[in-house]
Amino acid sequence: MATPLPADLRAAMAQIAAAVDAEFDALLPVPDDARRPLYEAMRHAAIGGGKRLRPLLVCASAQLFNVDPQAALRTGTAIEAIHVYSLIHDDLPAMDDDDMRRGKPTVHKAFDEATAILAGDSLHALAFGLVADPDTHPDPFVRAELALELARASGPAGMAGGQMMDLVADGAGFDLATVTRLQALKTGALIGVCLEAGAILGRVPPEGRAGLRGYARDLGLAFQIADDLLDVEGDAAAVGKAVGKDAAAGKATFLSLLGVDRARAQASMLVDQAVEHLHGFGAEADLLRQVARYAVERDR
Ligand code: IPE
Ligand code: IPE
Ligand code: MG
Ligand code: MG
Ligand code: MG
Repeated sequence: MATPLPADLRAAMAQIAAAVDAEFDALLPVPDDARRPLYEAMRHAAIGGGKRLRPLLVCASAQLFNVDPQAALRTGTAIEAIHVYSLIHDDLPAMDDDDMRRGKPTVHKAFDEATAILAGDSLHALAFGLVADPDTHPDPFVRAELALELARASGPAGMAGGQMMDLVADGAGFDLATVTRLQALKTGALIGVCLEAGAILGRVPPEGRAGLRGYARDLGLAFQIADDLLDVEGDAAAVGKAVGKDAAAGKATFLSLLGVDRARAQASMLVDQAVEHLHGFGAEADLLRQVARYAVERDR
C-alpha cells in the first residue's frame, strides 16, 4: 500500500523508485511459455532505473488534493510505462540508434529489434490498461479523463508528434519557436499530463488547473534544456546513456540555437517561472518547488 511522500526530495525520489519497481514487478510476472522474452524485455526496460520523475510528479500533484496515494502511484506507473515505451523506441536503430539506457544495454541490444518494438507496444497497452482499471480509481469518469489526457499527451499531438519533429530536425534549420514547439510536444506533453493527472484524481475542475499547467509547461522546457545540456556536458557513466549525440546528428536544440550560457540562463529563468506558477499553493507544494530546481541542477 502506497504512503504519502516525505517532504524531502531525495527521500521522496527513493520512495517512488522503490514503489514503481514493485508495481512493475507485480504487473509483469514472466509466463512459462513462448512470450517469455517479451515479458523479460519489458521488465529489463521498466524495472530498476531512471529518475522516475513522472510518477513523482503525479504523486506530488495528487498530494495537493489529498488523493489516495495508491491511486496516484498506479497512475504514475501508467505514465512511466508510456515514458519507458517511448525510450525503447527512441533508442532503436531507426531512431537514435543507442546502445545504452539507464546504465544498461538498450532493449534491442539485450534482446533484438523485434522484441524491443513489441515490448514498447506492450508497455503502451499496459499504461492504458492501468488507468482504465477500477483498481486504480473507483470513478469511471476519472478513469476516462485520465485515459483521454494520456492519449492526447502520447499521440501525434504530444510525444509521438514531437518525436517526428525531432527526426525532421536533423539539419532542418528549425528556428527557436519551432524547437520550442518540438520540445513542448516531445517532452512537455507527458510531463504536463503528470500534473494534470493529480488534479483529475483530485476531481479539480479544469478552471482550477491553470497554476499546475503553467508550472508543467515551464518545467517541461527547463527539463529538456537540461537534457540537451547533459548531452553536451554530461558524463556518460553518470547519465547512463551516450552523450554528444545531438551535435553529431546536427540536431536543432535549444543548445544549438542559444549556446550553452544562454540555454542555461533560459533554463534557470524557466524554473523561477515554474515556481511562480505555484503561488496559489502553500507548503504542500514544496516538493514540486524542489523538483523544479532539481530538473536543471541534476547530473543524470
Ligand atoms: C529522458 O527522460 C528523455 C527525455 C524525455 C528528455 P528522463 O531524463 O526522465 O529519463 P529517465 O526516466 O530518468 O531514464
Ligand atoms: C527522447 O528525446 C524523448 C522521448 C520522447 C523518448 P531524446 O532522444 O533527447 O532522449 P534521450 O537523450 O535519448 O534520453
Ligand atoms: Mg530522440
Ligand atoms: Mg534519444
Ligand atoms: Mg536527449
